Amino acid sequence: MSDKLETYEAGVAERFVGHIRLPIEVGPLLIRRTALEDHSDLVEMFSQSEVREYDPLNTLTADNIAWMLEQQATIRIGDQGLPMRFAIVMRRDWKVIGDCVLTITNVENRTAEFGISLNRNYWDRRLGALATHAMLGFGFGRLSLHRIFALTDPRNERCWRMMQRVGMRREAHHRRWRSVKGEWIDDYLYAMLADEWEPSTGDGIATEVPPE
Ligand SMILES: CC(C)(COP(=O)(O)OP(=O)(O)OC[C@H]1O[C@@H](n2cnc3c(N)ncnc32)[C@H](O)[C@@H]1OP(=O)(O)O)[C@@H](O)C(=O)NCCC(=O)NCCS
Repeated sequence: MSDKLETYEAGVAERFVGHIRLPIEVGPLLIRRTALEDHSDLVEMFSQSEVREYDPLNTLTADNIAWMLEQQATIRIGDQGLPMRFAIVMRRDWKVIGDCVLTITNVENRTAEFGISLNRNYWDRRLGALATHAMLGFGFGRLSLHRIFALTDPRNERCWRMMQRVGMRREAHHRRWRSVKGEWIDDYLYAMLADEWEPSTGDGIATEVPPE
């Protein structure tokens, strides 16, 4: 290993020593691996038209969610190419209000893709930003990832604003990147490197929670 890389690795390690293990408790939220009993809350969320607005393939039916939750039991943290799914839980009442996914796309390069969805009733309180910031910290700190990226439809402004809030950078605008049901769709590529993650960015991101 070159001196430069060693210094980089040591710097990254120092920032994350003992930091962010599962479950993650952050503000009003708890983040843990998904479980079979999350089914009804996830079906509720993925049935909401606004949550599915930028997912035109609409694959998350009740049956698919049940299958996906069963599969999660076989996916270990660190498996390449397999989506690790995490439930975002409101600690007040243990309702699963969202989920997020980390997929290690390349173990050698320590790169992963991130995605997140929240129940519509919990949007616009920066809970998405809070959970995203914590999951990036988990990915960099606990999984020693080097780079985490996310793709989003440019029309999904709420999503890319949330990513910018936590310090992810827009690295590309892929024009006509995907063909979905005969329509060409653009993508923004957002990313963060391990040494760009700032613990303090998470301070006070979400202060308001919805009334009971
Ligand atoms: C993307 C998602 C997780 C964001 O959750 P959230 O908790 O509402 O996000 P936050 O409150 O942290 O941030 C939303 C940002 O959008 C802004 N915003 C709110 N309403 C908006 C609107 N109508 N148009 C544009 N921006 C808007 C907010 O001001 C905030 O930006 P700011 O922090 O700079 O003020 C949520 O909208 C969602 O689940 N969407 C459906 C699934 C999805 O599209 N996932 C993304 C794929 S990776």
